[in-house]
Amino acid sequence: MNHFDYRDGVLHAEEVSVATIAAEVGTPVYIYSTATLLRHFQVFAEAVPEGSLVAYAVKANGNLAVIRTLAEAGAGADVVSQGELRRALAGGVSPDKIVFSGVGKTAEELSYALEQGIFSINVESEPELEALSVIAASKGVTASIAIRVNPDVDARTHAKISTGKGENKFGVPIDRMPDLAKRCAELPGISLKGIAVHIGSQITDLGPLEAAYGRVFDMCETLRAAGHAVERADLGGGLGVPYVMNAPHPPLPSDYGQMVRRISAGKNLRLVFEPGRLIVANAGILVSRAVYVKHGASRDFLVLDAGMNDLIRPAMYDAHHDVIPVMNAGRTEQAYDVVGPVCETGDTFARGRVLPGFEAGDLAAILSAGAYGSAQASEYNARPLVPEVLVNGKDWSVIRARPTYEEMLARDRLPTWLS
Ligand code: LLP
Repeated sequence: MNHFDYRDGVLHAEEVSVATIAAEVGTPVYIYSTATLLRHFQVFAEAVPEGSLVAYAVKANGNLAVIRTLAEAGAGADVVSQGELRRALAGGVSPDKIVFSGVGKTAEELSYALEQGIFSINVESEPELEALSVIAASKGVTASIAIRVNPDVDARTHAKISTGKGENKFGVPIDRMPDLAKRCAELPGISLKGIAVHIGSQITDLGPLEAAYGRVFDMCETLRAAGHAVERADLGGGLGVPYVMNAPHPPLPSDYGQMVRRISAGKNLRLVFEPGRLIVANAGILVSRAVYVKHGASRDFLVLDAGMNDLIRPAMYDAHHDVIPVMNAGRTEQAYDVVGPVCETGDTFARGRVLPGFEAGDLAAILSAGAYGSAQASEYNARPLVPEVLVNGKDWSVIRARPTYEEMLARDRLPTWLS
């Protein structure tokens, strides 16, 4: 469910006309709905067992205003870099609700995380464990850690966002866990609190998640039997969201929550979740203006002022995003290739998409763009980084401004021999 609806034929974000925002801020622009963000967070938090930590995966959308909205609702944060950790803290997430994942945390990042006293560092390899021990011991602190295991489960999602197969770079093969737990007990500065797992993203089938979680819970038992005080399991993120309006939807958070409750019952583990996409994807749209409608040799192109640099998901993962007109004028439908202005054929949002007729100057909304949209945007082709707007009821505010061309140029420096 989201809060983007037509009112008198004009798409609104909550109480605010999308056309008004587009006119005042310009296009392309991301628009997020506070009510949708909060609803998704609440629905998920209520679905999972009471007492769980829901740590929003900041990588999905790291805007400070988004983080703060969720932090005020009680969310923790899952971060994968010092930059994201700093964002989470600046957004008001308390350190005791922050987990730090990632295969390549540097000594500097580990050191910073220890200084903040975060809830968990999710260690992904033996060398990282050894490095963390040295750093923690040198600071005279104890790192509260989970070890991320690789359960060798196929999440049956796009290969580029599948993370739980043995061949993937993530986590430690799960059968090495007993030896690693022993090593943790020997190492100074390390306190092993639990096991973490994350098998992929946009997962639309609960089977692989259940299989992975089952392996994690079994391993927790094995470790306890060997005398290790395992108290928590971090079950990662990954639950898929609907991207196609009139197609069967992936399992709901309530279905997911029921599965988790069933298989975690009686395990006496505090659970941690790291949802990203589920919270923000359908809380955001990318609004763009048609620059031209171009009649090609065999097809019509709807050329937008948003490009792959603003939303790379279709180019990178062949992702589907619904496209709708901002003004619902009931025009006759026709098929378009919806493209951007970037100089690559991959700069295509949709092929042969049947849409109400568009004319140059019309506004289009690309839906389900709140997750991994602005977060993966770039200035390729020297296009200004796309701005972001947050709506809250009747209020709206620019939460990241579009840089000016002067600001963009000023970031580069000419070396002395060229100036
Ligand atoms: N936890 C860990 C350790 C992760 O690596 C991820 C996502 C999440 C949680 C959040 O997963 P989610 O609930 O959002 O599925 N850019 C890609 C998605 C990459 C996901 C990376 N890891 C896309 O646009 O589809």
